[in-house]
Amino acid sequence: MLNDISEILISEEKLRKTVARLGAEISRDYSGKDLILISVLKGSVIFMADLMRAITIPCKIDFMAVSSYGSSTKTSGVVKIIKDLTEPIEGSDVIVVEDILDSGVTLSYLKKLLLARNPASIRVCTLLDKPERRKADITADYVGMSIPDAFAVGYGLDYAEKYRNLPFIGVLKPSVYQKTGV
Ligand code: IMP
Ligand code: MG
Repeated sequence: MLNDISEILISEEKLRKTVARLGAEISRDYSGKDLILISVLKGSVIFMADLMRAITIPCKIDFMAVSSYGSSTKTSGVVKIIKDLTEPIEGSDVIVVEDILDSGVTLSYLKKLLLARNPASIRVCTLLDKPERRKADITADYVGMSIPDAFAVGYGLDYAEKYRNLPFIGVLKPSVYQKTGV
């Protein structure tokens, strides 16, 4: 698995510090609110698990699964709901927790869909942001780190469902996805 990684983009230590900072910001901003974190499966599970433990105020969690990718490294622009929330969000203060904001197509679709359910507020917290690649008109309210346009894997992020269990974020060698022909 490590042979497929060309460089470490974000170390475990740097991830810990980044998540701690985001948790502190959210705890400060949402004190006294009815906070619910919505994790977008599967990429954000590790981030979500660490982020919720870095939040010091009460919060609920829920999960949603959408798909826009297949095994390609480029967005298809088609977003499909695979799993919906278990609870209503009406009147709650929602933070959508994402692994990475790339074209923004997935998140702008999701945000519209959730807004129609009348939450008191809705914000986006993304671990990684690739601003150069943005197509949809969306910005995250909480950003862990901006990264250059390379394909990142690890700490939840996958390529064709692999590499999610790497404890750091690395750059996937282009030869890995070029040789599979996608
Ligand atoms: P967007 O709709 O283009 O913003 O795509 C968002 C989703 O694409 C993320 O939640 C990831 O699942 C996936 N994605 C985008 N860039 C990467 C990457 O560099 N590595 C792994 N997954 C990525
Ligand atoms: Mg994802």
